[in-house]
Amino acid sequence: MSHIEVISASIRAGRQSHKVALFFKSFLESSKLATANILDLKEYNFPLFDERLSKQANPIPAAKEFSEKVAKADAIIIVTPEYNGGYPASLKNAIDVLYKEWYKKPIAISTASDGIFGGTQVITGLQWSLWKIRAWTVPAMFPVPKVQEAFDVNGVPADKAGVDKRAGVFVGELLWCIEAVKRMA
Ligand SMILES: Cc1cc2nc3c(=O)[nH]c(=O)nc-3n(C[C@H](O)[C@H](O)[C@H](O)COP(=O)(O)O)c2cc1C
Repeated sequence: MSHIEVISASIRAGRQSHKVALFFKSFLESSKLATANILDLKEYNFPLFDERLSKQANPIPAAKEFSEKVAKADAIIIVTPEYNGGYPASLKNAIDVLYKEWYKKPIAISTASDGIFGGTQVITGLQWSLWKIRAWTVPAMFPVPKVQEAFDVNGVPADKAGVDKRAGVFVGELLWCIEAVKRMA
């Protein structure tokens, strides 16, 4: 079975998009589509980027662990909020600190906001950064509008049937990409 790491990008006190990350972990496991783990950038609490991990003289153990988890994963789901039309600094920090770990890594992007557009303005900028670092972004979207109402604290969706259906299509595109990468290995 494939293994998917879910990056939860918001480190904000009272964050809402983390509930979407909780949902994906539970969705992947309960549907037996993949094993899953959350890489919580709030827990990692990385220092502000000052050099790539591979060039750091004394990398912190948490950064090395993050690197290994990204490298080993068959794919990544990034759950990110939209802050002023872009993705948060915490996520840029985590992308820039790694390099080869992202190479040809299938990545699906889920965005969230408290408004009606579901954070979709993040996608162009984030996809561009991931393309530049030579990851494989999957052409599928999972925007979450009004995230504060859409999921409870445990990541259970208010509209479970509807959200599960959308998640199945979204994850299906990522699984296709995982299979494609495996066949080329
Ligand atoms: C600094 C900041 C900027 C934000 N900018 C936007 C924005 O441009 N568009 C939007 O729809 N929501 C914006 N929001 C609201 C977020 O969508 C909202 O906080 C939502 O819950 C997702 O972020 P969270 O996971 O940190 O809670 C912003 C929030 C913050 C803290």
